[in-house]
Order: sequence, then structure tokens, then C-alpha cells
Amino acid sequence: MKHIGVLTSGGDAPGMNAAIRAVVRVAVNNGLKVTGILEGYNGLVKNNFIPIDSHSVSGIIQRGGTFLRAARSPEFHTIEGQKNAADNMKKNEMDGLIVIGGDGTFRGANDFSSRFAFPVIGIPGTIDNDIYGTEYTIGYDTCLNTVVEAVDKIRDTASSHNRIFFVEVMGHESGFVAMHSGLACGAEVILIPEQKNQLEKARNFLSARARTNKSSVILVAEGVEGGTMAIAEKMQAEFPQFEIRVSVLGYIQRGGSPSARDRILASELGTAAVHALLKGKSACMVGFINGKLHYESFNTAVKMHKKVNVDFVRMAESIGTYTPMD
Ligand code: F6P
Repeated sequence: MKHIGVLTSGGDAPGMNAAIRAVVRVAVNNGLKVTGILEGYNGLVKNNFIPIDSHSVSGIIQRGGTFLRAARSPEFHTIEGQKNAADNMKKNEMDGLIVIGGDGTFRGANDFSSRFAFPVIGIPGTIDNDIYGTEYTIGYDTCLNTVVEAVDKIRDTASSHNRIFFVEVMGHESGFVAMHSGLACGAEVILIPEQKNQLEKARNFLSARARTNKSSVILVAEGVEGGTMAIAEKMQAEFPQFEIRVSVLGYIQRGGSPSARDRILASELGTAAVHALLKGKSACMVGFINGKLHYESFNTAVKMHKKVNVDFVRMAESIGTYTPMD
């Protein structure tokens, strides 16, 4: 292997730049040439490449987003698009590829590497932490810290005005962000897509709350059945004695300078991805399980569903809510 490409695809996540930096530095230190592919798989299809050396990645470890830019590419999911991508890689004499992104990214990589027998290694980068085969994804820790900071501020208004806040966090179809940030910011209730009857859960909580007249934060994952707005409106109609408000945190969760933990994870996984290519591995993602480096085949990573720990959610809620003494 002499020449590798690197790209970031799907939603950006803090720490992607740190991962690119590690990939480039480790590759160059091992005698490889590196090409940056711009705008994810779109760049691969459209031959949108830039040469990168060790100097090009100076001063980016602390920057959010991705300097290679990211995109979701419907074209790459067609055979025609993948043929163009393979031709472009051949023309540029690339013989390996590292893709940084989430499950959509790995689905594309899986098709591409099996169709063209091309070596591809994945690095999990998404704030959702919903990738099977690794405990943590790049960007997740920063996202949790952003949510905690925001909810701490919302608490000031909640307690000053004695309000109930429904705070919606991202996570796509998964409840990881809500689960871990819920514990970290002392949410009284956590509503996630993986559990049923979330509206009833909110109702039961508010019924009990009626006795205590306390402000509360109910953390809601964006994928929850029924949707945050509808649940909050229904609860306001059923509990007119409460002042209910909704705060959707939105894209602030994807931005910002990566936390130390994300920079470390990104650097370790970037290093592991280059070594994996050099060892002849392909069609797999690098991750960490129980603190140990783990290789998960793309096939399994995209088919399996990483589960939230429902016991953890219960624990967080039981710490977040207390029963007042009469
Ligand atoms: O996967 C990251 C994520 O931010 C999800 O949490 C969210 O549902 C989605 O991306 C938003 O995607 P887009 O960038 O297409 O608006």
C-alpha cells in the first residue's frame, strides 16, 4: 500500500478533524501518500480531491466540524456512482480508503469495498453514539458536554419560574444522548425511542409532581414516539396548573471544539485505522470495547443495533427524582 484516501461523511461531529490529523500523520510517518476527498462520497464520485501532508493538518485538532467537509451522498449509493468512485480512485492510483462517519457511511463503504474488492477501513464519528461494535463514537462526549451546559442554563429558568421543561436532544433513532446527558444533568425523566409508552411515563411523572410543585427537566430524545412537541402539548392540556415549555437544543450539539476525550479517541482510532490498512484488513470499522481495540466488520456494524441500557435510564431517573417527605 502506497497511497490512501481519507474522507468524512454523514453528519459532522466534533473530533473528526482530530481523526483526520491522526490518519494523515500516521500514514505519512509510515511512508504513505495521503489524499483528502472533499464532501464525503460526493468527492469520490466527482473526483474532488486534495493532496494532504503532515503540515496540512496542523492546528486542526481543536477545531469542530471537518475541514474536508461532509455530505450525505445519494449518488454513491447507486452502482453508477460507485463505478465513478472506483475509476477516480484508480486514476489517482489510490490503493486504500479510510472513511470517518456513521452507519450510512459504513453502509456505503461496505457495498463499495465488496463490489470492487477495495480495502476500506471505517472510523466511527457521530454524536449519536449509535454504532454497533464500539462503546463510544467520536463526537459523542463533546455533544454530551454541550447538552449538560445547555440544560444547566435551562435549569436556572426552570427553577426561577417553577416550570417544567421538555428539552429535546439529538440522537437520530437512538436514546444514547438522552440517556447519558440525562444522568449528567440530573433530569427527572428521560424519554427515549427504545422504550414504549413514553407519553404515559411523562403523564405518571407529572401526576406525582402535582403534589410537590417543583420545577423539572424532562429530557427527550428526538426519535421518541409521538415527538417532543406533541407530547408536551398534550401534557400542558392535561396539567394546566403547570407552566410547560419546550426547548429543542438542535445543531449546537454537533458543533464546538472537541473535548479532550474525543480528541484522544479520535487520535487512537485514526492511528488504528492506518495500521489496519497496513496489516491488510478491510471492510471493517475500528472501535473500542471494554478499553480494548476492536475490529467490527461493516456487515455486522450496519446490521446490528447497539442497545441503550434501560437499567441505566431507570437509575438516572431514580437519582434525578426524589420522593418528598410529607
Ligand atoms: O447523525 C447526527 C445527527 O445530528 C442526528 O442526531 C440528527 O437526527 C441528524 O444528524 C440530522 O441530520 P442533518 O444534518 O441531515 O440535518
